[in-house]
Amino acid sequence: MNTVVLGLQWGDEGKGKAIDYLAGGFDAVVRFQGGHNAGHTVYYRGRKVVLHLLPSGIFYPDCLAVIAHGVVVQPLQLVEEIRNARALGLRLDNLVLSANAPLILPFHQRLDVVFEDSRYQRIGTTRRGIGPAYEDVVGRRALFVGDLLDEPGFRSKIAVLAEYYNRLLAAWGQPAEALEPAASAYLAAGEFLRPMVGDSGACLRRALRERRKILFEGAQGSLLDIHLGTYPFVTSSNTTIAGVFSGTGLSPKAVDRVIGISKAYATRVGEGPFPTELGGKEGERLRELGNEYGATTGRPRRVGWLDLVALRHAVQVNGVDSLFLTKLDVLDGLDEVRAAVAYESGGGRSEDFPCLAGALSGVRPVFRSFPGWRTKLGGLRRIAELPAPARAYLDFVAEFTGARIGHLSVGTEREQTIEIQD
Ligand code: IMP
Repeated sequence: MNTVVLGLQWGDEGKGKAIDYLAGGFDAVVRFQGGHNAGHTVYYRGRKVVLHLLPSGIFYPDCLAVIAHGVVVQPLQLVEEIRNARALGLRLDNLVLSANAPLILPFHQRLDVVFEDSRYQRIGTTRRGIGPAYEDVVGRRALFVGDLLDEPGFRSKIAVLAEYYNRLLAAWGQPAEALEPAASAYLAAGEFLRPMVGDSGACLRRALRERRKILFEGAQGSLLDIHLGTYPFVTSSNTTIAGVFSGTGLSPKAVDRVIGISKAYATRVGEGPFPTELGGKEGERLRELGNEYGATTGRPRRVGWLDLVALRHAVQVNGVDSLFLTKLDVLDGLDEVRAAVAYESGGGRSEDFPCLAGALSGVRPVFRSFPGWRTKLGGLRRIAELPAPARAYLDFVAEFTGARIGHLSVGTEREQTIEIQD
């Protein structure tokens, strides 16, 4: 079954672990959007590995790993990640990098920082140039991975772009970006990557014809989607199901199943509304229990209760078939667990999720309370072993969102996962 795995919250749902767990049954894994703003944490042979651009399926040696054209690629970062993976003993013979993936260039990183520090835009981005790189795609001036393979062509194209960006930087009172040594470093990265560069769309269509099983690996989360998230506090790609098709060139018929990942509570990094956020001691406690610090930037994550209004929105826009609920064990020691079931505002009570941040920032969550289970779940492997209060919480999540729970994660290791049959 060709399966899409998507984060349903604001990213950091534990997709790395979920994808690593699921990827064993697949012939190919594909990244289709985002860039190295993602940070997927996987435990491999007892070691913590954080992947930013490489698909999490690289840990299975026979699995084809594809970075499709919807991903924005910082080639120096990719080379470093490949080298690190090889140092772990992974061969990565099966990596395909789309020639049509847009490049993140040094100017993009510079402008991301300039915008973030300005008074016009404070999104709390990862400052890695993701937004400006996607802006170049929409603005029809992007350079692509394939451009790195033609040195004279790349040098002349990047010189034109440098002129454009240096004007912008000057307007912002910033020094110009030197072309060298960045251009040479990018070309060297291109040479390193050359054997992997190809037509990812054709490669995936071939895999489909050969009935190989494909896992599409989402990055970030649905509430950060450029169109369906809490705009403007979003990332610059389609993190929802739409990104699979625009980012790979495959049709919706290529997908058989959508698995949505959500934590058993909620976190967010960066700015933007977060109705169920917990402040003070309660928030600090949950942050420590869940070790909620960003995999990419190390920033402390904002934490809160599960927001079922937002989760149902994400289930519906993505057509989620089943939920993979992560970090349930983090709630083990609590006397009470809460989840939001509606929002209240001047306009009354609503169970609908408003996409624009302005509409969401004024709401007060209406909580439903559940008794805690006060049992360590980390050693459990079967749903029947779960304490009754934990079952009651999960049953309510499934009923409210309309999606069955197919997997539960109760710890960081691959084995600490409970599969729930239909
Ligand atoms: P950007 O993607 O760096 O432009 O950042 C835009 C927003 O998305 C910011 O709030 C980031 O914190 C958030 N973001 C981007 N990537 C991730 C991720 O992988 N996990 C969680 N949040 C992310």
